[in-house]
Amino acid sequence: MSRTVPVPQGLPMERDAGPFDPPRDLTRLREARPVSPLLFPDGHEGWLVTGYEAVRRLMADTRFSSRQDIGVLHVPYETPGMPVATEPSPQVPGLFIAMDPPDHTRLRRRLTGAFTVKRMKMLEEHIHDIVERQLDAMARLAPPVDLVKEFALPVPSLVICEMLGVPYEDRETFQVNSAKFLVKDQPLDEKMAAYGALTTYLAELVTRKRATPGEDILSDLARQDDLTVEELTGIAFLLLLAGHETTANMLALGTFALLEHPGQLAELRAHPELLPGAVEELMRYLSVADIFYRYATEDIELGGETIGKGSTVVVSLLAANRDPLRFDNPDTLDVRRTARGHLSFGHGVHQCLGQQLARIEMRAGFDGLLRRFPTLELALPADEVRLRTDMNIYGVHELPVTWTEAAR
Ligand code: HEM
Repeated sequence: MSRTVPVPQGLPMERDAGPFDPPRDLTRLREARPVSPLLFPDGHEGWLVTGYEAVRRLMADTRFSSRQDIGVLHVPYETPGMPVATEPSPQVPGLFIAMDPPDHTRLRRRLTGAFTVKRMKMLEEHIHDIVERQLDAMARLAPPVDLVKEFALPVPSLVICEMLGVPYEDRETFQVNSAKFLVKDQPLDEKMAAYGALTTYLAELVTRKRATPGEDILSDLARQDDLTVEELTGIAFLLLLAGHETTANMLALGTFALLEHPGQLAELRAHPELLPGAVEELMRYLSVADIFYRYATEDIELGGETIGKGSTVVVSLLAANRDPLRFDNPDTLDVRRTARGHLSFGHGVHQCLGQQLARIEMRAGFDGLLRRFPTLELALPADEVRLRTDMNIYGVHELPVTWTEAAR
């Protein structure tokens, strides 16, 4: 393995290998030095981890603190694309994705019951109904339509709103503000304004639920007196944001990827029983939640390198999921592959709480869409699709699609 690769200055982010593939520099780096030093834009040094084995080990090791994990949520302190401080960030009450045990454990534990496989199975039929209703509405429109607006975003938003007890009529508040919140280079004051609007809204909501609880997850939490309103607000914020942006982008980018791989799409249409495996493969291949941050609380050996105490460590799940040492022909989308073991839901104590829910939504979503729209196609050239290279969750801003017949 060569040690002569130049230290990257900032994260290689440009999607120069195509809309679904990792940036070329990231691939080169993984091949040459899967645990590599990295120079942040402000000049301080950190590390970038791109190899599957190293990423997996790192995420299983709580000596790598999550208190810099601003990858998905970008908490509102100055983060022009990268963390500046080499200190753990201040904790935001309730935001347990960016906490370490035991604080993390104390909060996550209260939610595991609501997201078990069994609970999710009970929701399955209902999620199918939501998908079908959304597709009915879409089929009534005259194509072309934007799949993001008409399908990919509403489905997970409706589901998470209902589970949390957030009125769907208020979606403007959270969809617009969470979208603003996920823009990578958003000026701090705008990010603060979006964060402020969202948390003000949610603080009022959880306060009402504490007074008159209903039958939903936020009410169940609000009944627990030892959780403060600030904590309830942080938890609500995390669940709402993580619960709709990620799945929505998987549905939209996944559809785009299938339309661009007609052989794979035909295979899936001919063999619907492949769908659960195909969802895992799409998760691996697309890795829409790619970049996560950790902070080394002591000197730690990883992949033959020593990561010094206090270093900021950046993880690329996309690079790890495309590692040829773990997956054969990793850059090929193959709906027949056994993609389990991918890292798209993370690994270790922070592994995605909503993963069973996301799987059910994606299976129901792709199943319904492919069945009801057998002639679905892009309504513009593929290279004109607006990619979310400017956002912390990757995907497409819009996906104009058309069809000649819609089935019931
Ligand atoms: C954590 C990805 C859907 C809630 C995570 C992590 C990843 C991830 C990679 C780990 C973060 C880390 O280690 O720092 C995804 C993807 C999804 C998805 C790709 C969709 C395809 C959902 C849904 C929910 C959800 C539907 C619903 C509530 C959470 C929460 C955490 C989390 C609460 C934090 C867990 C913790 O810190 O213990 N997700 N997620 N996610 N996800 Fe998801």
